[in-house]
Amino acid sequence: MTTHAEALDRNARIQAINPVVLEALSPLGHRAFFPKGIPYQAGQAKACAINATIGQITDGAGNPIPLAPMAEKLAGLNPKDAFLYAPIAGREAARKIWHAKLVKEDARMEKVGLPVAGAGVCHALNMASELFFAPGDTLILPDLYWDNYEQVFQVRLQGDFMPFPFYGADGGFNLEGLKEKLASVPGKVHVLLNFPSNPNGYSPTPEELVAIGNVLVEAAAIRPVVVYCDDAYHGLVFEPSATTKSLFFELIDRSPNLIPLKCDGATKELSFFGGRVSFLHFGVDKAIAEILVDKCMGLIRSGLGGTVGLSQHLVELELQDERHEAEFERLRLILAGRYQRLKAALAKPSPYWTVYPFNAGCFCLLKLRDGLDADQIRQQLIAEEGVGVVSQQGNCIRIAFCSIKEESVVPLIEALERVCAKH
Ligand SMILES: Cc1ncc(COP(=O)(O)O)c(C=O)c1O
Repeated sequence: MTTHAEALDRNARIQAINPVVLEALSPLGHRAFFPKGIPYQAGQAKACAINATIGQITDGAGNPIPLAPMAEKLAGLNPKDAFLYAPIAGREAARKIWHAKLVKEDARMEKVGLPVAGAGVCHALNMASELFFAPGDTLILPDLYWDNYEQVFQVRLQGDFMPFPFYGADGGFNLEGLKEKLASVPGKVHVLLNFPSNPNGYSPTPEELVAIGNVLVEAAAIRPVVVYCDDAYHGLVFEPSATTKSLFFELIDRSPNLIPLKCDGATKELSFFGGRVSFLHFGVDKAIAEILVDKCMGLIRSGLGGTVGLSQHLVELELQDERHEAEFERLRLILAGRYQRLKAALAKPSPYWTVYPFNAGCFCLLKLRDGLDADQIRQQLIAEEGVGVVSQQGNCIRIAFCSIKEESVVPLIEALERVCAKH
């Protein structure tokens, strides 16, 4: 299949600004572009008095014709925000307000262009990976990772994982492990880092974050390095020693060979799980970022079709509201209470498990002693104790403290002890 002339045009523009980015694109990333089809033409005709472009049922004056039961429930909203298509890249207001939130957190974000909106953080990751990750490519990542990365990078995109142990000898992030793996891959390489992490609830110290950034910049001295920052749990940090900043901030404008991609969203950060609102920022030259947004619009158009305007609008309302910061803090403190209770419950050494260091996010991870089968323990916990946890990697139990009451923490640990003691 030949590459469409429109894609060739985008690629030539990227090439003229930074050929490394073009080189780093996957075959699909090369081919992707937003066509001058219906949404494009409808956008051009937006201000026309008579606009017969898009297949969207309206009153002829740009207003939707909603059905009453839904309209009644959403009566507080302008029907246009609730019922009409969102632009393919997402609502401009939502993209701007999320970007502004990040600029407020770190001024380095000013150098980064507007994100494309997605339908959940997984979708942001999906677009990022489809643009850059080619079959046979290698993904370096810590060995404790969200299991869905296997679906994204192995099953869907046919890549190989090169994991390194998450923790170093001091119980902190394993910087040496990351360095070693980077040194062992000669050409273009991909790195995925998720902080605060799932499944083990770790956020680096500020010093570790800077050091990780420096290692990635060094690795990019001679070849393209694509870094996927999965910031799904951004801001959910419970110890003053752990950073609340994103690794992405450390990578902005550091090297023409470094391509940082920030995947984040409202799912956990705004406790809006069903909303499916996410953002993908490109930490490259703004003109290239704009072209990459265009390529993502092509991916969206051919996959989801479009993202969810209603929930993007709700995110806008939340972030514009003067109560937002206090509300986020209220949420964080609820989780912090459970976190403290869990820390205390796990403080005494257990004959059955060791606890991976955790300070953030929604989870902690226990490594069971040799001979204990995590999935068997998990199933027994359900059958005998009415307690649900997740088993991972054969010998680990993940506890999602985000979804249990503070007073359930101790009973959960006691139930786990009882089941382990039976083996
Ligand atoms: C590390 C990580 N990244 C991404 C996601 C996906 O989030 P979303 O539900 O917004 O797609 C999750 C969800 O559990 C996650 O744990």
